[in-house]
Amino acid sequence: MTRWNDGTDEVGTVSADITEETNALPARYFTDPEVHEMEKEAVFSRYWIYAGHANAVPEPGDFFTRTVGDRQVVVVRDRDGEVRAYYNVCAHRGSKMVDDTPMTEPGNMRRITCPYHLWTYDLDGTLASTPKSFEEASLNPDLEDDEVATLDPERNGLMEVHTDAIGPLVFVNFEDDPTPLAEQAGTMKAELEALPLEEYELARRYVSEVECNWKTFGGNYSECDHCQSNHRDWIEGIRLDESELEVNDYHWVLHYTHEEDVDDELRIHEEHEAKFYYLWPNFTVNMYGTADGYGTYLIEPIDEGRFQLVADYYFRDADLSEEEAEFVRTSRQLQEEDFELVERQYEGLRMGALGQAQLGPNEHTLHRFHRLAQEAYEAYEASDAPDAPDAPARS
Ligand code: FES
Ligand SMILES: [Fe+2]
Repeated sequence: MTRWNDGTDEVGTVSADITEETNALPARYFTDPEVHEMEKEAVFSRYWIYAGHANAVPEPGDFFTRTVGDRQVVVVRDRDGEVRAYYNVCAHRGSKMVDDTPMTEPGNMRRITCPYHLWTYDLDGTLASTPKSFEEASLNPDLEDDEVATLDPERNGLMEVHTDAIGPLVFVNFEDDPTPLAEQAGTMKAELEALPLEEYELARRYVSEVECNWKTFGGNYSECDHCQSNHRDWIEGIRLDESELEVNDYHWVLHYTHEEDVDDELRIHEEHEAKFYYLWPNFTVNMYGTADGYGTYLIEPIDEGRFQLVADYYFRDADLSEEEAEFVRTSRQLQEEDFELVERQYEGLRMGALGQAQLGPNEHTLHRFHRLAQEAYEAYEASDAPDAPDAPARS
């Protein structure tokens, strides 16, 4: 049953069973600014979040920055070839060190130098050098030069953030002791690592700002009941009735079957279907059925009512053939059609009339998404976080 905000306040938790009445996340979790603040900790600091593609940083010293909520990391390849991530924060007095550097325009540095007082770090994060002014006390009449303590390079190094990867897809996690990415990604990790993802190059990136909560778009991505009426060009040649939505612990997969056999030469993966992976909380991998390439979506919250979609397209060669360019155009059209749908949905949600939605039997992937959000809020609340707002009430 749909629950309206009629003063009876009957919303409950997302039920374990999709056939139960209170089976969606209460609507205010999409529109409340406090929930957005809470999600920065409860969701985006606790799970593995996509940082970027290892192909963007092939050489030692290559780097880009990545902002997640209020935090920014520098993702850099070290001298041993490992991709590592550090808070973009100097160990001296906390200055941000390197300028914003998107994955599409990576920089290169031999060492990481903070421009404020020139503390310099090796690519492994240890403090490499400080200017003379930190080694002698010439301006301090109370201290002799030989009383100045030397700085231990490791204890005064950069703060490292956990990184892990699915093939060339690099993830970061801000927890002290995170559960492995393999647990969060489940079977998706092995399935994707069986494919030569690293052999493909970034060919296009579309960045869009959309007027709705990030979970609204995530939900839209996770079902295709709206496709027949809203994506006429995209569904051409797809048998939606033979498609399948598969739910796993932290990811779900939308398998789309093609009406006709698609030539194996035409795609990176072998199954005769397109596969769209959604990995909780905000990342997707799109394995196309009709093009030899793949894509990723990053669904980044800006505030409770806005998100940014970063859509990347990887092909054998960054110079696209006309067919590939046409494929990307159709995909972009699909995105724009979805933006209209989710902005319209968000206008409705913002009216505050809906207390709790109901989900259909083919929206079970979306149900999983809502459950994971609720579990994240409850875990955060249970962890005695000082400013945790209430998780959705138990009915
Ligand atoms: S704050 Fe970075 S060197 Fe001083
Ligand atoms: Fe759609």
